[in-house]
Parts: sequence; structure tokens; C-alpha cells
Amino acid sequence: MVISSIDIIHELGKALTPEQVAIDPMSLENYGQDWTRFTPPAPKAIVFPRNTAEVVAIVECARRCRFALVPSGGRTGLSGGACAANGEVVVSMDKINAIAPVNLTDRTVTVGAGAITQNVQQAASDAGLFYPVDFASSGSSQIGGNIATNAGGINVIRYGMTRDWVAGLTVVTGKGEILELNKGLMKNNTGLDFRHLFIGSEGILGFITEATLKLTSPPKDPTVLVLGLSDMNAIMSVLGSIQSTTPLLAYEFFSELAVAKVVEHAGVARPFETRAPFYALVEFEHENEMTDARIFEAVEKCMDEAWVVDAVMSQSVAQARALWRLREDISETISQWTPYKNDISSTVSKVPQLLSAVNAVVHENYPDWDVVWYGHIGDGNLHLNILKPGNLRIEDFKARCNEVSTDIFDAIKKLGGSVSAEHGVGTLKAPYLNYTKSDSEIDAMRAIKDIFDPDGILNPGKVFSTG
Ligand code: MLT
Ligand code: ZN
Repeated sequence: MVISSIDIIHELGKALTPEQVAIDPMSLENYGQDWTRFTPPAPKAIVFPRNTAEVVAIVECARRCRFALVPSGGRTGLSGGACAANGEVVVSMDKINAIAPVNLTDRTVTVGAGAITQNVQQAASDAGLFYPVDFASSGSSQIGGNIATNAGGINVIRYGMTRDWVAGLTVVTGKGEILELNKGLMKNNTGLDFRHLFIGSEGILGFITEATLKLTSPPKDPTVLVLGLSDMNAIMSVLGSIQSTTPLLAYEFFSELAVAKVVEHAGVARPFETRAPFYALVEFEHENEMTDARIFEAVEKCMDEAWVVDAVMSQSVAQARALWRLREDISETISQWTPYKNDISSTVSKVPQLLSAVNAVVHENYPDWDVVWYGHIGDGNLHLNILKPGNLRIEDFKARCNEVSTDIFDAIKKLGGSVSAEHGVGTLKAPYLNYTKSDSEIDAMRAIKDIFDPDGILNPGKVFSTG
């Protein structure tokens, strides 16, 4: 039975109020894509459930009438995981966004999937606690999307990924069942923990509608140091020197072209006059005056070794924020060049090999194109962004980059690394999943999807290659 778009909208209208179903061109355009901008949006409709029961009703409708659903959070993703390009119905979590009072005894907070990350961080902070998962898009990304992509960000070196902060999940599977996973428990050894299957599942198993998040104590007086590095090889030596004296909250790196772009287009101030080919941004807790002494000693050693050519340290919260902009503003600033994003990783110890392999590919294949390097290098995670030359069509640019990326992915495979460190597989990395996962793992992933989504209605074309 093939059911028309009009009938589908009519059926959805039985489960939801008219205001909860949008089909106007602006909504279709806005909710049909994420920040990737590589796939033209073409959803059939956007629906706005207000609670878990309404998500169940939408799934039942989709199973009965056989149409596909795309879960949608803040759509800040960078792998095309939330794109709806083939007449799917987008299920926005915007209205499931309540934040319950912080539970100070459990040190948790229970939130709707549509809660904005920054609002959750604020709620924790108002209660004297800290939700440590943070990134530049926290003002618009939603918790459900963070969980569905196991988002990383700038504090992973200290606090880990989103997965480490989820104590409980409510999900609606592709069969329309509601599962309450782990129920906020700190200890629960009762066999398989499905919570971890849904974290990072990119909407192919079910909808996350609610989450209980763990909270912790805030870090003491976070202080930022920006270092100019003499060359790429200095990055890990500097990390080793500083980390051996002080535990770090963040260790980020970026190239001079990244700095030039944020200075020119985002009005960010340079950290110092000296231009270095690469920079490191280090954040640490300022425990007492001994911290300063230890850090100065480590930086001096790095200068003696000629790894570091200049340095600046924040003296106030405002200065720390200003220095962070050098790193956090890169992604949004370069988005105007529709960058092709490589989000890759190796173990931290193999980062020097990763950098030299990737550098060789860049020199050979992109001699005339602008290449912006940055990343959470202290976690082994490198973001390599190729900027689209103005005269090239998006499809041609993507095809050209895809060819080159296989050389990078070959190198990653040899190092036992990942083709998607934190952005997820989505549609863009789906053809390359086998560079990181074995055939047996991919078969098992497909079998698990069949259990939770037997009709294949959830986020089709994502994670698994269709070609
Ligand atoms: C970042 O680290 O800035 C984010 O992952 C976004 C990006 O890679 O562009
Ligand atoms: Zn990142």
C-alpha cells in the first residue's frame, strides 16, 4: 500500500493538534537539514510532539502508513545525521524541553531531549554543580542530539564524552515501545545495558525523549594558556611537558590559518604579535600559587627546547573567555566556505603518526586549497577542514574530497583509529564505516537495528551505507 503525502498529514493530524504539524516551506527547509549543508532538504512534514506518549503515537502512525521518520534536535550536527532529503517526516524535540529541579542528593538532573545544552549547564550551575559536556554549539544543540551522537567537545581530556554523563534514558523504539533505561541508578549490574546502545546510535534505533544526567562539582578557577608552537611536531611534546606538571581541563590546537580567519571574520584579537604556524590552548584548574610556578616552569622548558615561540596566560575570567574564542569561533567562522570536514582520531600516543600521515596527504592533494587544522588533540582528535574554493560546485568539491579522504582513512585504518571521532557517521561518513568497524561488527549493528526498528522507519540512509 502506498499512501499519499496528504493522507500521511491527515493521519498525523489524528495524533497531534494542527499546530504540531508544519508543512510550510520555511519549516521544511530549516528542519530538513543540519549544519553540514551538503544535502538539499526535502522532508514531507515536521511534527512537534510534546511528550513521550505523542512520540509513540507518531511511530505507530509511521509503521501503519509506512513512512520514514528523522529525529531532530538542534541540528548542529556535522555529518548529515539529521538531514531529511527524501520525503521523511522530521520529528522535532523542540517542545520536549523541560528541565526538572536538580537532585542535589543524587547529583543529577532530569531533562527533556529538547533541552538546550547551555540551559542544562546553567541549571546545574544555579544549583552549585557542573554539567561538563561543552562545545561551541551549546547555545543551540539539544541534549537528545548530544546523546544520540555521544557528543564530545572541549573538556573530554578531563571529563570524557556525553556517554559518561548519562545515568538514565527514556526512549521510544521503532516498534513504538517505551524503554526506561537504567533509571538514573549509579549501580545496576543486571546484564546488558541498553542505555549504551542508544547513546551514539544517531537515531537509527529509537527516539530519546528524556535523560537523567550526572553532575559534578565545578572546576576551581579555570585558567587558559595559549602557546605559539614552532611546528606541528611540537604539539605532543608540549602536551607531555605541561600534563606532567598539572592535570588539564582542555588541550586544543589550531593552525595560523584558523587564527587568521577568526581574526578577520569574527573580530577576535590575536593572542600575541608573534605568528606561529600552530597554536595550543591549554586550560587547567588554578588551585593555588604553586600552580603558576609549575606552569611557568613547564612553559620555560618548552621555550628552551624551541617548541614554544610565544605564550600568554589569562588573568581573569573575561580574558580566559576571549582566548577561548580563538578556538571556539573557528567552526562557525569557516562555515561560509562549506568546509569538507574530516573528524578523525587515533590513540593519543599515535597522534604524531596521525599528524604526519595526514600532513603528507594534505601536501600531496590540496597544494592550492585552504586547509584549516584544529582539534581536541589532547584526546587524539583532529578536525581537518578543507575549504571549498569559490568556483567549485558543491557536488564536485565533495566528490574530490571524498577521493582524497580514502587516503586519510587508509592511514587511520593502519593506526587503528576512527573515521569519526565525535561528529558521528550520519550520511557523510556512512560509506567509510568499514575503515573503522569490521564486517562482523557492521553485521551485528544491522541485526541490532532490525530488533529495535523492524520496519526500517528510523533515520534511513544514516550510519549504514546504502550503496
Ligand atoms: C569543534 O571542535 O569546533 C567542533 O567539533 C565543530 C567542528 O569540528 O567544526
Ligand atoms: Zn570538535
